Amino acid sequence: MEVEVGSQVSRSADTAWSPNSWRNFTAHQQPTYESAEELGLVTGQLAGYPPLVFAEEARELRRQLAQVAEGRAFLLQGGDCAESFADFNANRIRDTFKVLLQMAVVLTFAGNLPVVKVARMAGQYAKPRSSDTEVIGGVELPSYRGDIINGIGFSAEARRPDPQRMLTAYNQSAATLNLLRAFAQGGLADLHQVHGWNLSFLENNPQRENYAQLAGRLQDALEFMAVCGVTSENTPAIRETVLYTSHEALLLDYEQALTRTDSLTGKWYDCSAHMLWIGERTRQLDGAHVEFLSGICNPIGVKVGPGMQPDELLRLIDRLNPLNEAGRLTLITRMGADTLGDKLPALVQAVQREGRKVVWSTDPMHGNTVKASSGYKTRDFDKILREIRDFFAVHRAEGSHPGGIHLEMTGQHVTECTGGAWKISEDDLATCYETQCDPRLNADQVLELAFRISDWLRTG
Ligand code: PEP
Ligand code: CO
Repeated sequence: MEVEVGSQVSRSADTAWSPNSWRNFTAHQQPTYESAEELGLVTGQLAGYPPLVFAEEARELRRQLAQVAEGRAFLLQGGDCAESFADFNANRIRDTFKVLLQMAVVLTFAGNLPVVKVARMAGQYAKPRSSDTEVIGGVELPSYRGDIINGIGFSAEARRPDPQRMLTAYNQSAATLNLLRAFAQGGLADLHQVHGWNLSFLENNPQRENYAQLAGRLQDALEFMAVCGVTSENTPAIRETVLYTSHEALLLDYEQALTRTDSLTGKWYDCSAHMLWIGERTRQLDGAHVEFLSGICNPIGVKVGPGMQPDELLRLIDRLNPLNEAGRLTLITRMGADTLGDKLPALVQAVQREGRKVVWSTDPMHGNTVKASSGYKTRDFDKILREIRDFFAVHRAEGSHPGGIHLEMTGQHVTECTGGAWKISEDDLATCYETQCDPRLNADQVLELAFRISDWLRTG
């Protein structure tokens, strides 16, 4: 759905950026609300609510991402395709948090690089759709666009875009973030816990020995440090971690309402999350999303699909990061395992040639989605792995840093992606298929992936 709000203009000196300047551009993938008055009341309310994150935290993430851009750290970004209002509970948040941390520990240890952890959580509620409507049994209704916009149930009432949902999304994001902060600082992230965490996860997993060995080495290192006087009690770095939040900045009414000037620097930050990204369907150079994200000072990402041309990419980079600051912009490529080898080298070469400072991350999920004969959307573990392997290979060949990975994943034992050590087959998909939108890697598959990636981090 395209909403033409005002006339379409392109950026020029006399059209300064402001939190609502996106309204002068074409905004794709926006809902049409029935009542502009109700929308205004809700966004007015949100604009008065406290920010969810503090600008200095976003700046700290930018500094860490600058390290990634320079090849001195690795970015791990992951979480649900879409968070849901119904499945909002502490166990889910805890389980995703744990798996992200376990994965980060594996990558840090194996790659000998710090891992910057960014969750697709606490705000990942809006979804772009390839079709505006869905037809079931001859009935046509608006597509589900994420819980922040409408409901997943197939009825006219559920599918009606409801601005009040933004308030629920804000509240659930705040509660999620609160719990993540508590986990990160309250002991759950203590490296000493790593050993205890994973054993049940890895039952029957061929990677179990591997992980037990790694955990053993980590334990030895901690014991050595303890003898030297470095313990959880006196060293926060062992006891605590930092987990940043991110989501696709899709619903611009919501993002605008959470955008504030930072009292320390006077600059604009979108305080709905530390990092925001632009999706593959809304990254038009002259579109509203690029306009909006160009003016906020958070670290931002943009998805880069197989249709992207080198020239277009350079123009997009210059629009989003005109000062060429490392850490500002992450390019999240999502090419598909069969296409990456053809498409990625030219993009990397162009960026290298022009000296643009970016973080390169791979999303091996969105280019590898297929429909199983049973009708379920799925992705195969081996294809996901192949896209990551080739991503590393292309960057190594071009002398560029394969900086990160962006996953749709959960700490639950779902059966949404085929393959992996448990050999989930298409017939198994129905066993536990819970996603609101795209198929996610489950806890075992994610950890297995971490081990495979570690090998490539090491050999690089
Ligand atoms: C997503 O990350 O959930 C998504 C929709 O990705 P893309 O914009 O790359 O299709
Ligand atoms: Co998705």
